[in-house]
Amino acid sequence: MKAILLERPEHLSVTSIAEPKPPAPGEALIRIHRVGICGTDYSGYLGKMPFYSYPRIPGHELGVQVVTVGERVTNVKPGDRCSVEPYMNCQQCFACRRGNSNCCESLKVLGVMMDGGMCEQMIVPARKLHPSPKLTMEQLALVETLAIGCHAVNRGHPQPGENVLVIGAGPIGLSVIEFVKLSGARTLVLDMKAQRLDFAKSKMGVDHTILSKGDGKEVALSPQTLLSPTDRVRGALGGEGAVSSALEELKELTDGVLPSVVIDATGSNKSMSNALNFVAHTGKLVFVGITTQEISFVHPLMHRREMTLLASRNALPPDFTRIIKLIEDGQIDTRPWITHHAQFEEIIDVFPAWLKPETGVIKAVMHVT
Ligand SMILES: NC(=O)c1ccc[n+]([C@@H]2O[C@H](COP(=O)([O-])OP(=O)(O)OC[C@H]3O[C@@H](n4cnc5c(N)ncnc54)[C@H](O)[C@@H]3O)[C@@H](O)[C@H]2O)c1
Ligand SMILES: [Zn+2]
Ligand SMILES: [Zn+2]
Repeated sequence: MKAILLERPEHLSVTSIAEPKPPAPGEALIRIHRVGICGTDYSGYLGKMPFYSYPRIPGHELGVQVVTVGERVTNVKPGDRCSVEPYMNCQQCFACRRGNSNCCESLKVLGVMMDGGMCEQMIVPARKLHPSPKLTMEQLALVETLAIGCHAVNRGHPQPGENVLVIGAGPIGLSVIEFVKLSGARTLVLDMKAQRLDFAKSKMGVDHTILSKGDGKEVALSPQTLLSPTDRVRGALGGEGAVSSALEELKELTDGVLPSVVIDATGSNKSMSNALNFVAHTGKLVFVGITTQEISFVHPLMHRREMTLLASRNALPPDFTRIIKLIEDGQIDTRPWITHHAQFEEIIDVFPAWLKPETGVIKAVMHVT
């Protein structure tokens, strides 16, 4: 059967692989219909993804149909249309025993650390399948991206009426925005690219956007600033030039309080280091974006505000169930999301183009069958 192989960075090809064996107990054989492409795939393609190994069949955002199931499978049956939770966990380590299958100690993500869904059929543990009779294959493929945002917002746990700042309005930031909106909190979005903010405004109904230089000026806080009871950056830094207009804008938008939850979805260590400046006293900062570089900040910034710093990795099974229901009930509109399509073989040519910002890709989807 056909598959797409990333032999090494920047070398994608159509290849032929063996048909899967019949499913063992607890497993299901699935036919892949749609594969969503995301930043992880682009980074893997460019050789910039630290957890990625080669050669690799990519694909972790999947809309699939069950072909056959092994013994003792009760949650799905042949013919069921499903979204796939692509996080393969050991079920035995400390995190798994606590129900945190999203951050198993030996976690393997399909299409990243093991071969994924850019092929016709594959075997997966049936427990990783989340069925829906109503969702289209494209919507099923989108569930995983939404799950990343859902989990990040759950980590920050905003309350109705609170101000939540989302930094970075790429696909992950947009998925965060969906769930901030559902929480009843007020959504503020900051990015360096006007195009991304325009999308958040026009397509996602965000009212407040802030265009930032992303220069991390706030990091240069002086000791006086840190000791000042009101965090007045302006005077302490001794000049208008050093003052972050983004910080000023945020203060204005929040009656001087700043957002009580900040979720950084940039993947930029500069932004993540700087993000502490944007958090209200007693507030929370969630890192959903990933960097391999060092994040640094002066400790009083965190201490004085008694800030809670949280990581957010992947998502949990109930997130998938919840998202499927939200799309089924029309509470999440998936129409703005999918901006680009390609047929199976076309992917080889279009993939490098999708890396370019001018193509305006939010979510591209590959059609397998
Ligand atoms: N937590 C998880 O499990 C998980 C899952 C998937 C992806 N991710 C990570 O989420 C991050 C975002 O993914 P994406 O696909 O949306 O990426 P993206 O590159 O499409 O979007 C990032 C956005 O952040 C903006 N940005 C960058 N630096 C900035 C700065 N200094 N200030 C303000 N805005 C800035 C960019 O303009 C862009 O719009 C990546 O790091 C990715 O690896 C995390
Ligand atoms: Zn993804
Ligand atoms: Zn585990």
